[in-house]
Amino acid sequence: MDGNGRWAEQKGKIRVFGHKAGVKTVRQCVNYAAKQGVEALTLFAFSSENWKRPKEEVSTLMELFMMVLNSEVKKLHKNNIKLCILGDVRGFSTTLQDKIAKSEALTAKNTGLVLNIAANYGGRWHIAEAAKELAKKVQQGEMAASDIDESVLDQQIASWPLTDVDLMIRTGGEQRISNFLLWQLAYAELFFTDTLWPDFNEQCFADAIASFSHRERRYGHTSAQVQASKQG
Ligand code: IPE
Ligand code: MG
Repeated sequence: MDGNGRWAEQKGKIRVFGHKAGVKTVRQCVNYAAKQGVEALTLFAFSSENWKRPKEEVSTLMELFMMVLNSEVKKLHKNNIKLCILGDVRGFSTTLQDKIAKSEALTAKNTGLVLNIAANYGGRWHIAEAAKELAKKVQQGEMAASDIDESVLDQQIASWPLTDVDLMIRTGGEQRISNFLLWQLAYAELFFTDTLWPDFNEQCFADAIASFSHRERRYGHTSAQVQASKQG
């Protein structure tokens, strides 16, 4: 979700105005994803590097996070959406941590869209956490170091309700991953748009999905093999 600050600056407003406008887009996209039957939607809300921003911007983002949880979680629950916060939540205030835990608990049994909010999240951090957990298992004699392979690491990383990503959309014109879901993006289709996040809407989301549906996902195979397996 990139481009909030620039969107506000273009309108002669302070950056925070853009973050507030971005919340509306979040609401729209969550509803759209739920309506379309998307299994999981993961939004990169706050990276572990975003703490480096000006203090006032960081504290407004935290307030906004709290406000959104307060105002939206009941609606999410009503719509059968399961909310998960992905990231090192220990970096947040205890009030926010408490709110996060309660919000997750309320929606834990919901069976509709899984809505992951990546907050204080970094892709490298996530992989390192999984490595640490596996190291503990080895230390406790539950497994041998030689048992660790891609699928074991994958299962460990997927202890959060998030597996391989099909489509990654980045708004705001930059064409990079910025330490998002590094492991899960291995075979993702990437979609970059210049549209700034507050201007992104259902139509933009639909365009991204349409682009995705025209891609041929080969996973290392040849195009002929993929076509043959579709026919067979
Ligand atoms: C993304 O918008 C939102 C967050 C990181 C919270 P930015 O704040 O990065 O907006 P730009 O890139 O400065 O326009
Ligand atoms: Mg940005």
